[in-house]
Amino acid sequence: MGTLDRCHSIADLRRVALRRLPWPMREFLEGGSDDEWTLANNRAAFNRYSLVPRSLCDVTAIDTSVHVLGQRLAWPVMLAPTGMTRMYHGGGEVAVARAAANTDTVYALSTYSSQSIEQVREVNSGPRIFQLFSNPGWEIALGLVERAAAADYSALCYTVDTTAAPNKERDYRTGVAGSRAVPRSLLSILRRPRWVAGLARGGPMTLANLGIKPTEVEKYQWREATRMSWDKLAQLRARWRGPLLVKGILSVEDARRAVDEGVDGIVISNHGGRQMDCVPAPIDLVEEFAAALQGRADIIVDSGFRRGSDVLKALALGASAVMVGRAYLYGLAAGGEAGVVRAITLLREEIVRDMRLMGLNRLSDIDAGFVRREV
Ligand code: FNR
Repeated sequence: MGTLDRCHSIADLRRVALRRLPWPMREFLEGGSDDEWTLANNRAAFNRYSLVPRSLCDVTAIDTSVHVLGQRLAWPVMLAPTGMTRMYHGGGEVAVARAAANTDTVYALSTYSSQSIEQVREVNSGPRIFQLFSNPGWEIALGLVERAAAADYSALCYTVDTTAAPNKERDYRTGVAGSRAVPRSLLSILRRPRWVAGLARGGPMTLANLGIKPTEVEKYQWREATRMSWDKLAQLRARWRGPLLVKGILSVEDARRAVDEGVDGIVISNHGGRQMDCVPAPIDLVEEFAAALQGRADIIVDSGFRRGSDVLKALALGASAVMVGRAYLYGLAAGGEAGVVRAITLLREEIVRDMRLMGLNRLSDIDAGFVRREV
């Protein structure tokens, strides 16, 4: 039995991942901003909800498919955009995109990916999302949008919660922020030759879509990031023909306005606790957003999802789909492409089992009657 087969949950994959990763990468992956209140609350929030099963149901015909952004998806979990994925395993975004393609899972590629829009296209012909940061500059961002369209990405996802560099104190300690050489970090890297060899195979780490080193991005990105506007969203809407998502919205007024601007979906997200601290857990906002939007746009939610039951809670509260970030990165760090497949398989098996235990054949049948807010 291999290591991955001995992992029976995302938590198990996380334990293996954290062992395999050098200290700075571990801290970068795990960390949140400021006091990490949001990071902790993202997980704690799920405990505020319980699921209410129905009994005496024939559950022989399980169907996990959902309709999102005008498409039928095999299941409601998508892989969230995460930058510089080669940091966790040499296979990087290409390994994740392959795992996604082989499991009928939608993958969202980050602007700050370590492998390019086109490289990912080569290994994944299924529905794919391109996540856009306008931080590198508006003209550059528009160029990326054109490349994503040329490479046949089905949806564009504009991330709007990055108007300042986050205060991630773990990264100051390890030297990841500021590019300072920290002896403990170097030692930890040297002690993991397998990780180093994996990274070395793909050559130096770059932000592949921009053709620059990760350290170079610091020079300009946060100045441009402060220039976000509703007009830019409108420009994207005018240029992008396919479904447009806006990610990082936490205010219901903003969600309404974004829908008025013509977006097709809102990703309720606090960036996994990595941007502003002390903001709500997205799961706590789903119900309010669903009531406000009345089906005018799809609601996708992320931050803190680690279990199939978390996904069912979100769907019962009114979400159309869920994104996971760290959950698949743990799989990647634990075992490359096969590790991502393992993470996806575990989440999917949990959803199927939980649907049976909940008396649900179809995810489209789930509603507020299946969830209860604990006080
Ligand atoms: C992210 N996230 C992110 N979001 C985005 O829009 N563009 C990006 O490049 C990144 N990069 C990134 C790196 C890492 C290491 C993490 C963990 C996260 C946020 C991501 O898309 C998603 O919102 C969170 O990961 C969701 O929280 P969980 O699932 O990690 O708890």
